[in-house]
Amino acid sequence: MLILAFESSCDETAVAVVEMSESTRRILSSEVATQVATHALYGGVVPEIASRAHTEAISSLTKLALTNAGVTRDDIDAIAVTASPGLIGALLVGVNFAKGLASAWKKPLIPVNHVKGHAAAAYLAFPELDAPFFALIASGGHTSLTYVKSPTEFIPVARTRDDAVGEAFDKVARVLGLPYPGGAEMDRLAGLGDPEAIKLPSAAIDGSLDFSFSGIKTAVLNYANGQKQKGIDLVPEDVAASFTRTVTRSIVKQLAGAYEEYHYETLVLAGGVAANSHLRDAVSNFARKKGIKLCLTPKNLCGDNAAMIAAQGYFEAVAGHFADASLNAKATSGKSVF
Ligand code: KG4
Ligand code: ZN
Repeated sequence: MLILAFESSCDETAVAVVEMSESTRRILSSEVATQVATHALYGGVVPEIASRAHTEAISSLTKLALTNAGVTRDDIDAIAVTASPGLIGALLVGVNFAKGLASAWKKPLIPVNHVKGHAAAAYLAFPELDAPFFALIASGGHTSLTYVKSPTEFIPVARTRDDAVGEAFDKVARVLGLPYPGGAEMDRLAGLGDPEAIKLPSAAIDGSLDFSFSGIKTAVLNYANGQKQKGIDLVPEDVAASFTRTVTRSIVKQLAGAYEEYHYETLVLAGGVAANSHLRDAVSNFARKKGIKLCLTPKNLCGDNAAMIAAQGYFEAVAGHFADASLNAKATSGKSVF
């Protein structure tokens, strides 16, 4: 099944062509037009600017994705699109474009949940990966440990009670004066600093598998203000290293707690923050010790992309989850993000 997929939930416009079947998972093209430089001027994503930029990019990016895949519209079997969650105006650009194409080209339309899409990126790199598995989905807008019972049934086991982990990375980066989004630069700096330099509170909630990242974020802010008052310059490498060490340990602690309770055999690490090299190392060590099969999403598929939407779209199609022209975008998916 050849799927043309669209992703426009936040600040990347993405279009991909992916071949999916019981025995094939192959990315033919995966194009991403990032708006990061534009939003960096404002220190974060400006929704109105994001929507306009998606509108400008989506048509030519679609042509590029088809050309680079070496296919035409006649070869496409179905169209998948991120319909939730995300910025409503941004989502609507992708949803309306996909609806228009599906109608004009007479193709089935598949709505995809963005967070499920992040987990589905792992299917593309691990051809043998199949549900059930556990997934730590860590992005800029979402953080959860989820039991993926079947490719389309996501049961949250733990979640953040406040900020997403990527949001915390970005806020600490801001304190250090790094441009938005600062996650990748924090990763680099953390490798150069002393992870024991600053004592920070855990993000693992005691007696629960849930997370809270607002406490550690505030602790870094207070530390930075305290140093400023004392006239001491911050050492960004030490702040990045201490923050990353504490976050990484908190995540591994909750993964270990969940392992004691559920004895999961396979773990997927997904989402933008899954690109973090320190987190990848720590989770790899943990998985090795416990004998858990770890599927680390390749770094190029961790951030927002449309190949992951195509992968999830395939499984939604197999489950018969199609939409008609009444499909609407939703900023949230109701009670649960799934
Ligand atoms: O999944 P994603 O691309 O978008 C959302 O769905 O939110 O995640 C973006 C988040 C940002 O907060 C970004 O700073 C963070 O992922 N990120 C990282 C790294 N690369 C991206 N955080 C920590 N270390 C990284 N290497
Ligand atoms: Zn995302």
